[in-house]
Amino acid sequence: MLNNLKAMLNKLKGNKLIFNLSKLVLKKSGVLALMAICLLLGTTAYAGDPEAGAQKAYTCLGCHGVKHYVNTYPTYHVPKIAGQHEVYIIAALQSYRNKSRAHPSMQANAGLLTDTDIEDIAAYFAAQAGKEPKKIPAEAGIDEAKTCAACHGTNGNSNQPANPKLAGQYESYIRHALTAYRSGERQNAIMGGFASQLSDADIKKLAKYFSSQKGTIATADR
Ligand code: HEC
Ligand code: HEC
Repeated sequence: MLNNLKAMLNKLKGNKLIFNLSKLVLKKSGVLALMAICLLLGTTAYAGDPEAGAQKAYTCLGCHGVKHYVNTYPTYHVPKIAGQHEVYIIAALQSYRNKSRAHPSMQANAGLLTDTDIEDIAAYFAAQAGKEPKKIPAEAGIDEAKTCAACHGTNGNSNQPANPKLAGQYESYIRHALTAYRSGERQNAIMGGFASQLSDADIKKLAKYFSSQKGTIATADR
């Protein structure tokens, strides 16, 4: 998260006030402070060009455009990224590119991208959002998901751009992500902290819950 935030802060340099404010908040880091930054980031617009992104995203579709496509060793579904938040897609691609997020083929794919490519591709995938679910419950459906709601929405339909949408994401991928945060294989200050408190049974339950919620993310169009 801190890496992602730093990358995003660079983006904010044009806006001195927000930039300095965010830096100050970052120093006093804590969950509330981070959430405040997420809100501030919600006001920043990226200038990605979805049409250019469509051309550049061609190679990505071999995996992200195939329903139920599976990553081998370990085995889990390739995440749905169509309709995911633009800001989050940018952050994810940046962390594969700088190798702070592990995954050999994603590192190789992201390694070839310039900042402009990343923004264009993110704009392209983010624009493929499905229909908003008609009814979003007022309370988290299971006790284990209560703490997640502040950032990922009550049922995983996050409306904060830096916090990934979880509703409708593949169960096996959510399980994989939480396990990777817990083991430290995927580094993130916030999620590492939350995941360290989860048992295998909690992870199973949370993955089942969020993946079964109606959401706006999907396999990318081909
Ligand atoms: C060989 C299959 C493959 C290809 C090709 C591929 N990806 Fe991925 N992608 C994956 C897998 C598997 C993951 C999950 C990796 C992990 O566990 O971190 C992933 C993760 C991601 C994520 C993070 C999703 C999340 O929810 O955190 C983004 C964004 C992404 N890919 C975008 C792209 C883009 C853009 C391209 C093309 C430039 C691309 N991918 C090409 C397999 C692929
Ligand atoms: C304070 C805000 C916050 C809270 C609370 C929180 N998360 Fe997260 N979560 C994030 C952020 C930010 C990321 C993106 C981190 C990164 O870039 O790796 C994330 C990432 C994730 C991912 C990876 C998604 C993907 O597409 O790769 C999963 C799964 C997840 N969170 C599940 C949970 C669950 C389950 C809980 C509750 C037990 C929870 N989170 C609580 C902020 C939060």
